[in-house]
Amino acid sequence: MSLLTQLGIRYPIFLAPMAGVTTPLLASQVSEAGGLGALGLGACDAFQAEAAIRATQQLTSQPFQVNFFCHRSTPLDPVKSRAWCEYLSAHFTQFGQAVPTQLLAPYASFTDAPELLEVILATRPAVVSFHFGLPPKFILQALQHAKIPYWVSVTRLSEALYAQQQGCSAIIAQGVEAGGHRATFDPLCDAGLSTEELLQQLAPHISLPIISAGGVMTGGQITQLLTQGASAAQLGTAFIACRESAVSDQLRQRLFTANGTQITDVISGRPARGVMGRWQLEIDRPLRPAHADYPYSYALAKQLDKVASAQGVTDYQVCWAGTGVTALRPLDAIPLMQTLIAELN
Ligand SMILES: Cc1cc2nc3c(=O)[nH]c(=O)nc-3n(C[C@H](O)[C@H](O)[C@H](O)COP(=O)(O)O)c2cc1C
Repeated sequence: MSLLTQLGIRYPIFLAPMAGVTTPLLASQVSEAGGLGALGLGACDAFQAEAAIRATQQLTSQPFQVNFFCHRSTPLDPVKSRAWCEYLSAHFTQFGQAVPTQLLAPYASFTDAPELLEVILATRPAVVSFHFGLPPKFILQALQHAKIPYWVSVTRLSEALYAQQQGCSAIIAQGVEAGGHRATFDPLCDAGLSTEELLQQLAPHISLPIISAGGVMTGGQITQLLTQGASAAQLGTAFIACRESAVSDQLRQRLFTANGTQITDVISGRPARGVMGRWQLEIDRPLRPAHADYPYSYALAKQLDKVASAQGVTDYQVCWAGTGVTALRPLDAIPLMQTLIAELN
């Protein structure tokens, strides 16, 4: 049975789950238009995750995907984090603020938050997907037992083979063009394969449906990936600027005027692609100290943005986006879906 038939949807156009960007309205609009909506819930606690899922279920009876981060959590390394805070201290003092001395993880890994599993079992979304790896076996068994399919993003063949062995019902193959965090299970181990290269490497070895992600902005590109063996494409950047997303007008403006993106690990502590700004140009310098681990670095980045934004300086704001950002179209979700569908053939 094809992936679309399994899901009961019409079009191979999936909204990428994007923490802090996707909303119940955006997810439901994509699902209502015949694609697969998504909620990025990686930065949510159980209360927020349940509220978002239930709000989406109120807006659509069509299926949608919910997504969580599955990073291996590490205790704070005090020496590394102190050095990183010191390195960033001048950026804080220019706004008359002292650099924080304590970094707290801004959210938990799905693996460490059993209450998130409870939310999934209670709300029964059509699919749950994971970024940065899979949770341990007992959680996967609970999902299997509840007949809730699960997917994981992969960036290389070895991760895809592991996903297949762990009972995933599809895999999301994320190419290096993708906006946001690289999905690599190990942040230090990135093959850097493009979306097309990755699909070509996976297709002969993987019997599961493959959902290609990374740099896809048009229906023509989706068709091209389908002819190369993908079952669907997952688009993030293409949907960020939709009015139904959670991004501010200021960030939307930055996306439309962006002239390039770069991967850096200085913002969150894991490699992620975003629009060029102060983080990429001034902070990610050669010979800088090692950043604090993920997600402790992210806590510091968010605090710096808060301090700067309070004084009207917005260029510390994190602006995740893929290489396709320069082809971004100023369309709301439904017209964008209609355009992508029309371009499919
Ligand atoms: C702003 C933004 C936030 C993202 N957040 C998540 C997330 O929370 N979970 C996830 O699995 N992927 C996340 N991603 C990655 C997407 O799932 C997907 O791999 C990527 O958007 C595809 O590339 P594209 O942006 O070029 O379409 C994010 C991407 C962007 C652009």
